[in-house]
Amino acid sequence: MIRHFLEIDDVSPEALVEILDASEAVATPVLSGKSVAMIFEKPSLRTRNSTEMAVVQLGGHPVFITDAEAGIDRREDAEDVVRTLQQYHQVVAARVFEHDKLVRMARVSSVPIVNLLSDDAHPVQALADLLTIRQHSGPIAGLTICWLGDFTNVSRSLALGALMLGAHMIVCCPEGYGPGSEDIDRFVRVAMKGATFTVASSPQQAVSGADVVTTDAWYSMGQESEAEARREIMQPYRVDALLMSQAKETAIFLHCLPAHRGDEATSEVLDGPQSRMWPQAQNRMHTMRGLFTWLFA
Ligand code: CP
Ligand code: NVA
Repeated sequence: MIRHFLEIDDVSPEALVEILDASEAVATPVLSGKSVAMIFEKPSLRTRNSTEMAVVQLGGHPVFITDAEAGIDRREDAEDVVRTLQQYHQVVAARVFEHDKLVRMARVSSVPIVNLLSDDAHPVQALADLLTIRQHSGPIAGLTICWLGDFTNVSRSLALGALMLGAHMIVCCPEGYGPGSEDIDRFVRVAMKGATFTVASSPQQAVSGADVVTTDAWYSMGQESEAEARREIMQPYRVDALLMSQAKETAIFLHCLPAHRGDEATSEVLDGPQSRMWPQAQNRMHTMRGLFTWLFA
């Protein structure tokens, strides 16, 4: 059976731990003689660079393809893009707007499809987030992870992964920008025994007792026209030094990046002693290695 990775709960909790473990292991040449196609419909700094370098470290060859060349569903159907790329490559990875494009690709593909971010999910980011948390705070089970602001693709994947591994996930989002009922059903379904999902009524309540405080841009790629309106609504959710001081003393701050400094978090927090966003960014590469190693193990 082909292993696709469109969302973090495509793998079992045991496999998730295996991927995190493989991310910290010495690289083995599992991609020797293999290549990975990487299609990007949206811009990327971290995902492109970390994935390319992970492929190289595993002995493989990455091929970067922009939407101008792939033209998914414009130049040809998503299905035919994959049917073509699988003639040359052993993995097709893609960053897309509509998540359904990935689902359609996976349906016809004879090689693994890896989600490099869609409007709905960012599972390869969640791998790095979980590894960074584990490296600082130890096993994920029992930790309290607090998400503030817009409930994005990044938070959805992180919440799923954290709950699968037994964390207490607390979110606090403005009305209309939080998780939907489908999300909550899915969280309940994947949660390990003892894991909890809570919607907090204030950012202060949300961070209180948290081991991890994290957030994302208030407007994601494709939502730029909503920037001003969202800025207005999300003000109370900004992570500043005062809010951060209400989390545990040992708490860490994470941000998937890119950050809009002064919006979702102040520079004092982003650059502060509790911030782990640079190790988190580096872990994007290690966890891509872990994922490819697991895919070809
Ligand atoms: N965090 C993340 O995915 O960054 P890029 O959009 O730069 O790839
Ligand atoms: N939520 C953000 C994440 C960027 C890595 C976006 O989709 O633009």
